[in-house]
Amino acid sequence: MTDHDVRVLDDSQYRTAHGLFRGALHHKPAPDDVWEFVRESYDPGRTFGAFADGEMIGTVQAFPSRLAVPGGAVVRNAAVSRVGVRADWTRRGVLSALQRAQLRALRADGDVVATLRATESAIYGRYGYGVATRYRFLKIDRRKAVPRTRPVGRVRLVEGEEGERIALALFDELSPGRAGTIARWPAWWGMNVRRGAVEENLKIAVRSGSSGASGISGTSDDVDGYAVFKVVPGDYEPGVHKPTTLVVMDLWARNAEAWADLWLFALGVDLVDQVTTFGRPLDEPVEWLLTDHRACQVVQETDETWLRLLDVPAALAARTYRDGEPVVIGVRDAYLPENSGSYRIAPDGVTRVDDAPELLLDVDVLASTYLGGVSFATLAATRRLDLVAPTALARADALFAVSEVPWCGTYF
Ligand SMILES: CC(C)(COP(=O)(O)OP(=O)(O)OC[C@H]1O[C@@H](n2cnc3c(N)ncnc32)[C@H](O)[C@@H]1OP(=O)(O)O)[C@@H](O)C(=O)NCCC(=O)NCCS
Repeated sequence: MTDHDVRVLDDSQYRTAHGLFRGALHHKPAPDDVWEFVRESYDPGRTFGAFADGEMIGTVQAFPSRLAVPGGAVVRNAAVSRVGVRADWTRRGVLSALQRAQLRALRADGDVVATLRATESAIYGRYGYGVATRYRFLKIDRRKAVPRTRPVGRVRLVEGEEGERIALALFDELSPGRAGTIARWPAWWGMNVRRGAVEENLKIAVRSGSSGASGISGTSDDVDGYAVFKVVPGDYEPGVHKPTTLVVMDLWARNAEAWADLWLFALGVDLVDQVTTFGRPLDEPVEWLLTDHRACQVVQETDETWLRLLDVPAALAARTYRDGEPVVIGVRDAYLPENSGSYRIAPDGVTRVDDAPELLLDVDVLASTYLGGVSFATLAATRRLDLVAPTALARADALFAVSEVPWCGTYF
């Protein structure tokens, strides 16, 4: 018997839930003009509240999305967000009750995986979430950043709704694509781009190639890349050293030519001291565009996607595997015990079996390996799994290997 209970919220309760979440992060409730954008992101049946004495004391939500997995398949993904427990109710099991209810409901509803971004990394492993993608934040010193190459296409600024429409269409073509990328829900663009254009002066640059083939139509030319960015003005008063910073918030391109042209554009905007980025893929070769690699610094590399395999058989069956000898992996899942058991992974597919496992791991550890971002060998070396058959490690790594580093690229 607990002193609180968990329920699905209805639309009369979303604003309270949002205020509670913001309060847990030490922010004021959203004012009316912000709430106009936010309310669109509350879909029926996807937000939970915990209640005690008739008051809401905790909340969690999930946006409807899809995730690309190795091999190119796309699975249903619940993008979990807005987790918060009121400060006078923390460490009394409220989040655990919310997680239990949410994981069960998402699985029953047909979501194959859930993903989230963690404000603190010590919380979500116990609920079966593992770090599955990482990203890096760059800082480029423009005084040193001399490009090795020149643009080959045209980059132009597109204002307002037209810019957002072009960016959204190209994004939807490219993501989900690389393993780890996800579909954005319509309210994402309102919250992050439309609102950002008003509040932070966000700009959208779109790139067109010279060939014009297979671009996004409906525009005067064909577009094969875009960047959303803002410039945060510095301070040029004597003795004050706050640099003017161009921040690349979102950059997607269909091909390497478009990608390079967008970066050359970002590096070429006048009166900018440095260019920084929001989280970019680990394998993005920005430094190779520059004569001086050291002009580009990685200021942070950290966890991006926390992945939860809600339906382990469906998730394992959705991705492809490289050639190699089969391996039997044993999975333990305390919150969704129907996932617990042995799975035989082979190049031609996955079967649930009664065999004794050759590798035994918790479901959060399996999630970390699932997109190929970390090897079984690394997890064995750090004692995150039990190795029953020593040769199983190399077999598992051969099967799960990927050629491209997973990355999501959508913050929520
Ligand atoms: C983080 C937060 C949601 C946790 O809620 P809670 O109701 O206190 O969590 P619970 O009581 O259910 O704790 C569950 C477990 O997580 C641990 N835990 C909870 N918060 C933790 C934290 N911040 N750091 C480390 N461990 C934490 C608890 O100790 C407990 O451990 P146990 O299972 O070994 O007993 C809540 O503290 C909060 O709202 N914080 C501010 C907002 C925030 O960080 N939101 C997360 C956004 S991603």
